[in-house]
Amino acid sequence: MLNRRKFLTGLAAAGATAPGFFVPTARAAEQESSRFDDAVAAAKRARTAPAEKFWSEIQQSWAVDRSILNMENGGLQPAPAIVNQAFLQAWSKANEAPSHTNSRVLWPQVEGVRTRLAKAFGCEAEEMAITRNTTEGFLAVALGIKLNPGDEVLTTTQDYHRFHNDLLQRQAREGIVVRQIKLPAVPAEDAGAVVQAFANAITPRTRVLLLSHVFQLTGQVMPIRAVVQMVRAQGILVIVDGAHGFSHVAATRDELDCDIYVTSLHKWLSAPHGTGFLYIRKELIPTIWPLQPPTDRAPTDIRRFEAIGTASAAPYLAIGAALDFWEMVGVERKRERLVWLRERWVSRLAELPGVTLNTSRKPGLGGAIMSIDVAPGLSPPKLAAWLWERHRVLVAGVEHAEFRGLRVVPALYSTEAELDRFADLLLVARHDGLA
Ligand SMILES: Cc1ncc(COP(=O)(O)O)c(C=O)c1O
Repeated sequence: MLNRRKFLTGLAAAGATAPGFFVPTARAAEQESSRFDDAVAAAKRARTAPAEKFWSEIQQSWAVDRSILNMENGGLQPAPAIVNQAFLQAWSKANEAPSHTNSRVLWPQVEGVRTRLAKAFGCEAEEMAITRNTTEGFLAVALGIKLNPGDEVLTTTQDYHRFHNDLLQRQAREGIVVRQIKLPAVPAEDAGAVVQAFANAITPRTRVLLLSHVFQLTGQVMPIRAVVQMVRAQGILVIVDGAHGFSHVAATRDELDCDIYVTSLHKWLSAPHGTGFLYIRKELIPTIWPLQPPTDRAPTDIRRFEAIGTASAAPYLAIGAALDFWEMVGVERKRERLVWLRERWVSRLAELPGVTLNTSRKPGLGGAIMSIDVAPGLSPPKLAAWLWERHRVLVAGVEHAEFRGLRVVPALYSTEAELDRFADLLLVARHDGLA
């Protein structure tokens, strides 16, 4: 049975150590007997959530509009209040005397953010470029590497469509060849079969492979490490599109063993909008031409990829606050929580007749994102429209050539009540239809 000491120790072990968060120490918690009773009751109510109070404090760190039930956190996530504060402070400072405060005071401080991001990703600071988003990092590499007519870029039918378009422009202009392969299954749970599908598609002209770390429409995690290791000996460069990887699922350089990783920090890190990074393994930096040629940088300098003309340092500096927040929550704990959030709602539907899941629920193959076809008669775009127009629930309805479903993306600020309401609404739609 849950006793008081065990419960308090559990909460303290859950790591609620940051000032302003619930139960900084077990002793402090000892004095909070009414809170304790509430928390025990809440923990009993929650199906499996440990330290529910801790998470409710986390959820309140965001000033989001709760009249909208937002299950569309795939494109852009809101930032917690401390991140917004850090951004606004830097923004005000930049405006005090911009040529001095923005350019000479604030921009040099971005070096500290570079160091911290590099540590979080597990690379050297000199391999880490801060960008405005995944797209900026991807374009620098995809347009900046030398490819000859007939050279092939291999990707999948589920990778980000805009990146396909970027490559297709090179195909039209320069005669490179872009090839898309289908994965063996949706969801593709067999890493060996995925690696084999790439191995089968490689030809002597294959130079580059573009692969999402986590597919945008299904949330499927790809076996990046195995693919990279399969192609490395053949001199093929793998560009990992980590838009949905970093700060969501396991995503350090060494876990992935990748050479190039691009991501947006305004998605899963909840950093200010317009932030991302581009990791390039040291030896490769001089082999890639930057999009905006900087005049004063050595070919080995990763900062070559940061030249964007005059810009505010404020969003980049506030990445530091987003990293603080993430560290306070805990890298592992956030990851587990995101899976827990998915399971909270999907476990109520997964086994029902006619439900199709396009995302694997097996450990390591997914995070918070789930693609679900709720019933054969319910078109996902129509269901998404019904959810928004009737219930102010934001979710994406996806029709893809290989699957269809609602793409459901809760985030750390999502509450259990919201997830329960979401599942209730899907059950209502199944039972009563959309009329
Ligand atoms: C898989 C994937 N790659 C790249 C991007 C582009 O991200 P951004 O617009 O932040 O550059 C997205 C955006 O949703 C995405 O889902």
